[in-house]
Amino acid sequence: MPANIVVGTQWGDEGKGKIIDILASRADVVVRSQGGNNAGHTVVNNGETYKLHLIPSGILYNDTLCLIGAGVVLDPKDFISELDSLENRGISTENLKIDPRAQIVMPWHITLDGLSEAFRGGKDIGTTKRGIGPAYMDKYERCGIRMYDLVHPEVLAEKIKSTGTLKNKIITEVYGGTAFDLDAVTKEYTEYGRRLLPYMDDVSVLTFNAHKEGKTIMFEGAQATLLDIDFGTYPYVTSSHPLSAGVCVGTGVGPKVITNIIGVAKAYTTRVGKGPFPTELNDEIGDKIRNVGGEFGTTTGRPRRTGWFDAVIVRHSVRVNGLDSLAINKLDTLANIDTLKICTAYKMPDGSAITEFPPTLEELEGCTPIYEEFPGFSDDISNIRSFDDLPENCRKYISRLEELVGCKVSMVGVGPDRSQIIER
Ligand code: GDP
Ligand code: IMO
Ligand code: MG
Repeated sequence: MPANIVVGTQWGDEGKGKIIDILASRADVVVRSQGGNNAGHTVVNNGETYKLHLIPSGILYNDTLCLIGAGVVLDPKDFISELDSLENRGISTENLKIDPRAQIVMPWHITLDGLSEAFRGGKDIGTTKRGIGPAYMDKYERCGIRMYDLVHPEVLAEKIKSTGTLKNKIITEVYGGTAFDLDAVTKEYTEYGRRLLPYMDDVSVLTFNAHKEGKTIMFEGAQATLLDIDFGTYPYVTSSHPLSAGVCVGTGVGPKVITNIIGVAKAYTTRVGKGPFPTELNDEIGDKIRNVGGEFGTTTGRPRRTGWFDAVIVRHSVRVNGLDSLAINKLDTLANIDTLKICTAYKMPDGSAITEFPPTLEELEGCTPIYEEFPGFSDDISNIRSFDDLPENCRKYISRLEELVGCKVSMVGVGPDRSQIIER
């Protein structure tokens, strides 16, 4: 039965939340498998805006089972406030489950995220300061605190004592920071555990059983391909695997379960945080895209850097994710720009051109984009619902983009609302 993955193909914020929300109306189960509350997924329904960080975007449908897999790092404090804010808006969170193996973001992870960023000086990554990197470090160091531990007070107390003591030493002796009161942390997190106990269940088993029962499953990617720890712009990346392949290890299902992989891109490119961005626009057009597109971070509120669509990047994403199709969001944002550009290849310092995204920052830094130009469009396309009704210049732009990245475009977003989508 259908098991679809939705992944980001650029540097995040492509509108994955919107696409998941639309597809979730046809799904029984929505699963998050990596990342944490560094993600910010926006869903707009009839003028109501929901900003989700850890809770899967399927939550707005009453009957959809929403799962948080083993590969996620979960900040219980933030998670509980997200639960409360949904409940206060009349959204039930009863159908939500968290895998016992999911790692818990502890307060020292957040502190260490800030301290290590400050230590990097001008070479900071520009993280969301949500403790994501330090939490994944502990996971791989094998000293992480997991969901199971959180809901078992005696295990939690023991782990906080051992890990917390070491973390306090690092915070005070390496960084000169302030130590945590471990008794107070134990008390606070025991309370979170009590609250979250009813949500714990084996997500690998739940997902596998749903698959066997012929249910439709959606895997909701967070972050994006160029933020992948291996295949992104390292070290300006996040600490997980946002690629389609990350879904299997992050959920605990085999790759043969997956039937369809959808990549989400914007009709242009954005990035928050630091690191290279070949098609970045530091000019009036870049400002216009930021203002018209409302390009300010969902999680941190930071202005997003903006630039032209980069086909080299999305071609890389088509390959490393094995994409079956693309959803292109925010075409509406490009209205009223005289000439649109798509980067087709990069020019190297020796004058040669490359069409594959380079594996290292050193190689990428010497690259300048080679552009193809397209006449823009001035029409308001936000009410169009059929591809054939789009202005000719829009259709040409999308068709050429498909050719350049080597993947068909199955959805085009023309506005933030759930209804503002063209399906082909
Ligand atoms: P995500 O992290 O990939 O889920 O994306 P975000 O929610 O962080 O950022 C995408 C932003 O674009 C949100 O504010 C969405 O409401 C908005 N959005 C999504 N699709 C469209 C679209 O087709 N047109 C416009 N104008 N806005 C969109
Ligand atoms: P969604 O799911 C955009 C970026 C941060 C920073 C880098 C590392 O909404 O698309 P981290 O806090 O993860 O250690 O930061 O990754 N980043 C995102 N950028 N969208 C996201 O998520 C992001 N999650 C992390 O800005 O550059
Ligand atoms: Mg986002």
